[in-house]
Amino acid sequence: MLYRPPAPTPRAPLPGLIHAMLSGERDLLSLLPDIAYTTRVGELGRSRRGIMLVNDPAWVARVLADPEGVFPKNDLMVGALEGLVGQSLFVTSGETWRRQRRMIDPAFSHMRVNRSFEAMQAGIDTYEAVLDVHADSGTTFSLDAAMSALTADIICRTIFTQSLASQTARDVFASFGQFERHVANTEIRRLLFGRPFAPIPQSRAVLDACARIRGHIDDLLSPRLEPGAPAIDDIVGAVIAATDPDTGAPFTRSELIDQIGVFFLAGHETTASVLTWLFFILAQLPQIAGRIRAEIDAVAGDGPILLEHTKQLAFTRNVFREGMRLYPPITFIPRVAQRDTEIAGKKLRRGMMVMIAPWLVHRSPANWRDADRFDPDRFTRDGEITPGSYIPFGLGPRICVGAAFATIESTLILARLVRRYDFSLLNPDKVRPVARLTTKPADEILCRIALRPD
Ligand code: HEM
Repeated sequence: MLYRPPAPTPRAPLPGLIHAMLSGERDLLSLLPDIAYTTRVGELGRSRRGIMLVNDPAWVARVLADPEGVFPKNDLMVGALEGLVGQSLFVTSGETWRRQRRMIDPAFSHMRVNRSFEAMQAGIDTYEAVLDVHADSGTTFSLDAAMSALTADIICRTIFTQSLASQTARDVFASFGQFERHVANTEIRRLLFGRPFAPIPQSRAVLDACARIRGHIDDLLSPRLEPGAPAIDDIVGAVIAATDPDTGAPFTRSELIDQIGVFFLAGHETTASVLTWLFFILAQLPQIAGRIRAEIDAVAGDGPILLEHTKQLAFTRNVFREGMRLYPPITFIPRVAQRDTEIAGKKLRRGMMVMIAPWLVHRSPANWRDADRFDPDRFTRDGEITPGSYIPFGLGPRICVGAAFATIESTLILARLVRRYDFSLLNPDKVRPVARLTTKPADEILCRIALRPD
């Protein structure tokens, strides 16, 4: 099996840049030159602020561990998210972040993931009814839109104990879509020519979307914050109840909106992104889909797939992990040098961008054998993964709080939908990935499904 799923063809640096500027392409993936895949640590191209690329796993781990606080989140990323979730865990640094992380970690504890499993099952049950109609009628539908709808419903049920069916929840997701389409976080001109730490103006469309989302989250929170409101055992309940271990103070209302906003944002487009790529790949690799079905048969037979089964689906989980290696939902994890410093003996001036890109680290030939090939079995081979070479959830103190949740959720969705349907694609040759807020197909992936015989 030598299947290599789609990726941009890296060009030499100058022709690549000219192509990107002339074509008005907004996509940073197609701008990455060939040397970006092989550089270990080195300056990438010429830009006003300077970009230090780090692909070497040991240095990736050291920069992300950042014990001295020299490499906070990059100002371009912070500027993009400021209006929406500026005081959230994802964006803050230093003492503010440490306090928030201590308060939020318990909401995503092992116990809580166990409880979220019901929400995952209910979301999949509801969405299978939609997919059954597609299967019956033979309709063509967008794979990426389907995965977004499914994961949005699950995150809504998990956070708020409400399905996406409510009007407010639907409005929140429509506004998130608008935010994602328009937010200026991947503007190539700003990356190349912008000054570090300069303000990032956002369009009216983005500001309006931010105001609408925050307003809706506030509405959803209101009844939960009424005096005497019953405590509900969901993620919002856990975050409302959280207190600062030092002062005993809870989150302010505005901070609550920030945290919940980031759970919505980070919690569904990421899983939707990797699942889209995985169903696209599985439609072309029936032998892998067959191995997933055989594993489910062995673990759960014909019965429902329960949490303990999901944890035993080792091959299915490796398919998910390989999907995240080749299509890491968070394409780039940028940092900024807070002061003059060094990485691997290379000098960095204050304001220089430190570019750690899961996309590049995962496709670097020095980090992975046959790096472009889809091969879930690589995770069972000794010595294939070194610390710092596999970073879909980040690494170090700022590693994703939702990693355990996302792994269970994605494994379950893969297992249930692969068991029930055969997927076929209409336009596989036209599919190409681009980097937006997550790694997405440039255009919709159109597909059809058929119910499998019982
Ligand atoms: C496949 C799914 C997911 C992927 C690939 C992913 C990836 C990541 C990555 C790479 C980071 C680190 C960013 C950095 O260091 O700059 C991160 C952080 C974070 N993620 Fe996720 N994530 C996923 C799912 C989720 C879910 C389900 C939630 C919550 C419901 C979530 C909430 C967060 C939060 C709050 C942070 C910030 C943590 C901090 O800075 O302390 N993520 N995620």
